[in-house]
Amino acid sequence: MNYQTPRGTYDILPDEVNRWHDVERVIAEMTKRYRYQEIRTPYFEATSVFARENDSSDMVNKEMYTFTMGSDSYTLRPEGTAGVIRAFDQHKLYGSMELPARFYYMGAMFRHERPQKGRQRQFTQFGVENIGIKSPEMDAETIALGYDIVKAMGISSVKVCINTLGDDESRAAYRNALKEYFAPYLDQLCPDCHRRYEQNPLRILDCKVDHDQPFMKGAPKLSDYLTADAKEYFDRVLKALDAIGIPYEIDERLVRGLDYYTHTVFEVVSTRPDSGAQATIFGGGRYDHFVEYYGGPEMSGIGFAIGLERLISLAADEGYPFSQEDGLDVYVIGLGEVSRNVLQVVQQLRHEGFVAEGNLVSRGLKAQFKSADRKKAKYIVIIGEQEAMDGTVNFKVAGEKEQMTLKMEEVSAHVKELEKK
Ligand code: HAM
Repeated sequence: MNYQTPRGTYDILPDEVNRWHDVERVIAEMTKRYRYQEIRTPYFEATSVFARENDSSDMVNKEMYTFTMGSDSYTLRPEGTAGVIRAFDQHKLYGSMELPARFYYMGAMFRHERPQKGRQRQFTQFGVENIGIKSPEMDAETIALGYDIVKAMGISSVKVCINTLGDDESRAAYRNALKEYFAPYLDQLCPDCHRRYEQNPLRILDCKVDHDQPFMKGAPKLSDYLTADAKEYFDRVLKALDAIGIPYEIDERLVRGLDYYTHTVFEVVSTRPDSGAQATIFGGGRYDHFVEYYGGPEMSGIGFAIGLERLISLAADEGYPFSQEDGLDVYVIGLGEVSRNVLQVVQQLRHEGFVAEGNLVSRGLKAQFKSADRKKAKYIVIIGEQEAMDGTVNFKVAGEKEQMTLKMEEVSAHVKELEKK
């Protein structure tokens, strides 16, 4: 019997969960400033939502967790964009929301990849989709949100890599050029690249197997096939990034692993030498034809997704001061058969808004003082059998010697008084 987490998945234990809360707080603050609204879509969708016709990406072709129930095929979401656009179309939000509609989402995604540091089979993305307005400045603004989050997590060793895939015309011309170029090398390409050659030759440039083949270097460059419009669009994106002080590097080889992109694509990568497979913190781009795919109108969108495991791990590497568990306001020590009184006092305190904990089993005084200390209690209440009979307690400030006697029902009022000072 194997009672372990499946390969590529992990537990977040209580002593690590604070890190997640910290990231979630930063994200909540940033999405508020940028005025994004949260959307929650199902963790699984009909397979056809992800497996779009003629899709050439590894994600769709190799990595999806797909299962059938009766005659229906479902897939655990490998990414968030498809579900958000599906929802945008299904609920006709393009008619009811002011555009651009700005969505954000956070949650688990599932890809059957080879696990390693920074690459899991269940991982968590924070992502945004900004739908309905096409403007180069909006591309820059979208990148800025991701960049701000990365910076707010104290990660400074990053670079923004950016490229354009151009408009339909640019890509069609480029596709032909690539087909022509790779035709004589077909027998030297891996089996996957044969499929890519037919479906989307752009993806050959991204192949991990054929990456070092000598003929890869001489492949045509998309920048030579861009239309004047596409060039101008990209130029404006870069100028907007300059204007808001976001440094970038143009990476002509950046094509991204998903099929739906047009125009701007970007990835923000860690430049730490030890970052390995987790180097890409977030990636995204613009899509001109995704909204119409699920039956919506012709409408462009742009988005990105951050891998939160990578974000947290890099933030930790760069020394981000993750918050520690909060201490207790009051610890209640019980000596003898007094658990009921301990419980009453603890509940009284909690109902007045204090963080309180008490000892509900018989334990020695020393061990209980140690617990209070470990839990960083500010105040300590001690109830012995005599006090329980009298309806009183002993009260002291942690670390101080003096104790005073209080009526049981006065404890929270007394703590309140002390906290006022
Ligand atoms: P993606 O590049 O496939 O894009 O994933 C975005 C981020 O998710 C990556 O940069 C990485 O941080 C994280 N990630 C991806 N796969 C894994 C994995 N196996 N383990 C850990 N982290 C991972 C998308 O998913 C697009 N939906 C982004 C987007 C939104 N484009 C437009 N809108």
